[in-house]
Amino acid sequence: MSWTSIDQDLCTQCGICVTRCLMNYKEVEGVITSSASMATCNLCGHCVALCPTEAITHHKMDMENFGDLDKRVDYDFDGFKSFVRGRRSHRIFEDKAVPREHLGKLVDICRYAPTGSNRQTVEITILQDRDKIQRLSDHTVDFFENRLDELEKEAREYEAAGKDLPQTTRSALTMVETLKRVVMARKFGMEVIFHRAPVVMLFHSPTETSTPKDDCVIASTTVSLAARTLSLETTYIGLFEFVANRYRPIVQELDLPPGHKVFSILVLGYPKLKFLRNVDRKPMKARWL
Ligand SMILES: Cc1cc2nc3c(=O)[nH]c(=O)nc-3n(C[C@H](O)[C@H](O)[C@H](O)COP(=O)(O)O)c2cc1C
Repeated sequence: MSWTSIDQDLCTQCGICVTRCLMNYKEVEGVITSSASMATCNLCGHCVALCPTEAITHHKMDMENFGDLDKRVDYDFDGFKSFVRGRRSHRIFEDKAVPREHLGKLVDICRYAPTGSNRQTVEITILQDRDKIQRLSDHTVDFFENRLDELEKEAREYEAAGKDLPQTTRSALTMVETLKRVVMARKFGMEVIFHRAPVVMLFHSPTETSTPKDDCVIASTTVSLAARTLSLETTYIGLFEFVANRYRPIVQELDLPPGHKVFSILVLGYPKLKFLRNVDRKPMKARWL
C-alpha cells in the first residue's frame, strides 16, 4: 500500500504535489495519483504541507502534527540579526535549576531542525546530576593530562622518522596550549570543562548516517538560539567532544545507544553576567562568483 493517498473528492488536480515530488506523484490523463514507499519517500511531508485543499494523507506521519503555519511571526531581518548577535557563550551560571518543562521544550524544538536526507536520527542526552557532570569533567581533564605527554612524544617520533603526522594528531597538537591551560586550571580548583553549568546537553547520532555531525550541530544551534527565548544561555563544549567518544571511562559513563557518537555539546543555564553591548567580529570573507 502507498505511504500516501489522495482524497479525489478534495483534490482539484492542481498538480502542486507533482511539481514538488515527481518521485511519488504523477498525473495520468488528468488524474493525479500517488505511490510512495520507503524507496521513494523520506518523510519530508512537503506534499501534505503544500496541498491547498488538504487532499493528501501521509500514512507514515502524524497528520495531527501538521497544523497551520503561524502567521503571527513577523520575520524582520534586523530583529533577527540582533537576536543572533546578542547570543554569547556564557560560562558563569546562576545556581538555579532549569525547569524540566523548559528543557522539554528545547528538546522538542529539535524535531523541526533539518537533517541530511531527513533521517532524523539525532538524540539528546540531558545531564543535570552535579556529581555525574563533575565526574565527566574530571575524566576529561585526566584524559588531557595523559594525552599531553603522549602527543608531544608522538610528534617527536614522527618528526624524527621524517613522516607526516596523522590528521588526528595534527589537530590535537593545535590544542596543546589549551589543554595545558585546562590541566593547570583544575590544579587551581576551576571547572573549565562544563563551567559548573546546571545542565549539559549531548547531541548524538548513529555514525552510519550521511551527515551525523551536521545534524547534531544544527540541532544544538537551534537549542542555543531557542534557549535565549527562555532566558537561558549556552556555550558549545568542543573540549568534551574531543574525548567523549574515545576515552573509555567517559564512554562507559555515557552509555550511549549502540552505534552512537556524540557530535555536539552544550552547557546551559541562567547566566550570571549580563552583556551590555555586542562584540566585534572580523568581517566575513565572501567570494561572489
Ligand atoms: C564548535 C565550538 C566549540 C567550542 N568549545 C568550547 C569549549 O570547549 N569550551 C568553552 O568554554 N567554549 C567553547 N566554545 C565557545 C567559543 O570559545 C566561543 O563561541 C567564541 O569564543 C566566541 O564567543 P561567543 O560565542 O560569545 O561569540 C566553542 C564554540 C564552538 C563554536
